[in-house]
Amino acid sequence: MRTERITIDNAYAEASIAKIKSTVGNGRALCALSGGVDSTVCAALMSRAIGQNLVCIFVDTGLMRLNEGDEVEKLFHDNFNSQFIRIHAEDRFLSKLAGITDPETKRKIIGEEFIRVFEEEAKKLGAVDFLVQGTIYPDIAESGVGQALVKSHHNVGGLPDVIDFKEIIEPLRDLYKDEVRALGTTLGMPDTLVHRQPFPGPGLAVRVIGEITKPKLDTLRHADHIFREEIARAGLSTKIWQYFAIITDTKTVGMQNNARTYGNVIALRAVHSTDATSAQVAHLPYDLLATIVERITTEVTGCTRVVYDVTPKPPATIEWE
Ligand code: XMP
Repeated sequence: MRTERITIDNAYAEASIAKIKSTVGNGRALCALSGGVDSTVCAALMSRAIGQNLVCIFVDTGLMRLNEGDEVEKLFHDNFNSQFIRIHAEDRFLSKLAGITDPETKRKIIGEEFIRVFEEEAKKLGAVDFLVQGTIYPDIAESGVGQALVKSHHNVGGLPDVIDFKEIIEPLRDLYKDEVRALGTTLGMPDTLVHRQPFPGPGLAVRVIGEITKPKLDTLRHADHIFREEIARAGLSTKIWQYFAIITDTKTVGMQNNARTYGNVIALRAVHSTDATSAQVAHLPYDLLATIVERITTEVTGCTRVVYDVTPKPPATIEWE
């Protein structure tokens, strides 16, 4: 792993843009957008360099947070001058994932289905010259180069085999996450985008333990939305690296209106980190946690219990799967 830091300033951004311009020339480039910081900053850099010669495809897997697909689309239209295609593919992803519980199998299915959906759309465009990948330095390091495989990270890995293109560009492959954010700011992107917390390629799939179903996803989305809303209300959204809810595969007994209930356990995770290779648990104020628990157990149907994960990375990873 690299230990020295790269200085991100206008000169770095201009040099990256110039390098992309000279590589791509008048060619056409194709980029997969996930809505996360990495792919968005990557697209911003590419868009700045080649404008309308960049085509961005956003595969809406149905594994996004509440309203996120619409937010990604709006953000793109407000900030970019390139072509944008959104594919609504929720049904496809959920039917492929039906009955699957193993985390690595889920990741592989999502990765493969992503490629298929992307490929179908890309084929409509005909040949492109370049395929852009938003891979960042920790993705490369953690996916097995120089150390044991931790999880098979899904960004757009695998695409090279199936898309008709000449070359791959990975403009962010040397950068840690904080450097990617600094680059976003340098490129004049809004804080809401730059300080958006990292979101994994496989989306909420890695936060639904056990089988992934639409009802579980909807329950998770609702709980996660409440958690994020309260973190924002407490003024903590830019002070915590990553915070999210998980829907466990455990059901427990609860009580409502003097009657016994039996419902889902939601877990909450909030961590501080600088590059995601290690993480410390955020010491959220107890009153804030109490408010969140109160809201989730009353507002989210079928949720009887909420737990807070206090495990650092290592030994745990940030995501539960
Ligand atoms: P873990 O769970 O490995 O996560 O400690 C480290 C960081 O990476 C994110 N993450 C992913 N990002 N594709 C991604 O692009 C993935 O498959 C993936 N898995 C985890 C995670 O959210 C955290 O920020």
